[in-house]
Amino acid sequence: MAKLKIGIIGCGKIANCDHIPGYKKCPNVEIVALCDIVPEKITATAEKHELAKAKAYSSMEEMMKADNIDAVSICTPNDLHYPMTIAALKRGWHVLCDKPMAFNTDQCTDMIETAKKCGKILHINHSWHYNPYGHKINKMIKEGKIGEFRHATCVSTTMNPPHIAWSPGADWFVQAKHEGSLIQDIAVHLGEMLQWIPDTQIVEAASYTSTRFPGIDVTDNFVAILRYENNATATMELSWTAPSNVFEFVFKGSEGEISIRDWKIYYLKRGAKKAREIKFSPFKFCSQRNFVDAIRGKREQLTPGEVGREAIAICNALTESGQTGKFAKVKKF
Ligand SMILES: NC(=O)c1ccc[n+]([C@@H]2O[C@H](COP(=O)([O-])OP(=O)(O)OC[C@H]3O[C@@H](n4cnc5c(N)ncnc54)[C@H](O)[C@@H]3O)[C@@H](O)[C@H]2O)c1
Repeated sequence: MAKLKIGIIGCGKIANCDHIPGYKKCPNVEIVALCDIVPEKITATAEKHELAKAKAYSSMEEMMKADNIDAVSICTPNDLHYPMTIAALKRGWHVLCDKPMAFNTDQCTDMIETAKKCGKILHINHSWHYNPYGHKINKMIKEGKIGEFRHATCVSTTMNPPHIAWSPGADWFVQAKHEGSLIQDIAVHLGEMLQWIPDTQIVEAASYTSTRFPGIDVTDNFVAILRYENNATATMELSWTAPSNVFEFVFKGSEGEISIRDWKIYYLKRGAKKAREIKFSPFKFCSQRNFVDAIRGKREQLTPGEVGREAIAICNALTESGQTGKFAKVKKF
C-alpha cells in the first residue's frame, strides 16, 4: 500500500489535539507538510508530534507549489474553510475540512460539486459523529427501545467562549468577520447529532439568540425549538457564558427515553421508576481514519460534504430565525 502524504493547514488547537493524532493512528500515512501564518505554531506542532521531517509553509499558496502532497486537513478559522477547500480540491488534493463546512449551503454545494468534478474525496470533520455515545443511542433507537421517536433535548453550556477556554487568544471564534459564533461552532455539531441519531430529518427551526460576553459581535447564547419531518420536536439550550459546564442529551419516545448525562448513557423504559445505566464499548474509529479509508476506497464516509451541508442548513435556519423572530425552514437537497 502506497504511503498517503498529508499536509496540515492551520497548526492550532484542533490540528494538534485531533487531526495529527488521528493521522498518526492510520497505517501508511505520513504528515509531510505543516502550514500556518504564525511560524511558532508550526515549530511547536512539529516538536510536539515529532514531525521534524515535515516541511514548513507560511501560506497555503506557498504549500500549493509542493508536489508531494496527496491530501490536506483544513484546520483554519471558519471563514477560510470554503476558499481553502475549493483551492485544495482544484490543486488535486483530497480534503478533510473541519466544521463548520462553510457559512451557507450554496458554498457547501460548490464544495461538493468541485470535489466531484476533481475526482477527490471531500470529508468534513464532524468529530462528534465519531464518538461512541451517538452510535450506541442510534442503535438503541433503531432496535425500538424508545418506540416512536417524539422529542429530544440537548443542553451544551460552557462558562467561557472558546477564545478564553478552548484555544486561548483565538479571537476569531467570537468575530463575525471570521464567521465565528456559538451557532457555527457548537450548534453545527448538535444539529447534526439531533438529526442522525434518531435518523429523522429536522425541517424547521425557531431560535432566540443573544450576545452576553462583553466586546464580541456574535451569538453566544441561544435557545431553539426544532421540528422534525414526523412532527417530533427538539429543544436546544446553548451558552458560552453559563455558570457551569454541562453537556446533556435526551431522546424520548412512546416507549422510553435514552439520555447522556455525566458522560454516561441511561435508559428509562416507559413507566419504570429509575433509569438504568447502559454500558457500551469504546469506539476506536476517527474522522481521519474514515477519510484515509475513503481515499483508499476501503470504506464509505460517515461525514461527507453532504452531511456537513445538512448541518449548515440547520445552522442557517437557526440564524435566520434569530434575526427575523419567525420560524425558518431548514433547506433540503
Ligand atoms: N471538529 C471539532 O470538534 C472542532 C473543535 C474545535 C474547533 N474546530 C474547528 O477547527 C478550526 C480551527 O479551530 P482551532 O480551535 O484549531 O483554532 P485555532 O485558532 O487554535 O487554530 C487555527 C490556526 O489557523 C492558523 N491560520 C489562520 N489563518 C491562516 C491561514 N491563512 N493560513 C494558514 N493558517 C492560518 C492560525 O494561526 C492558527 O494556528 C475551526 O474551524 C473550528 O471551528 C473543530
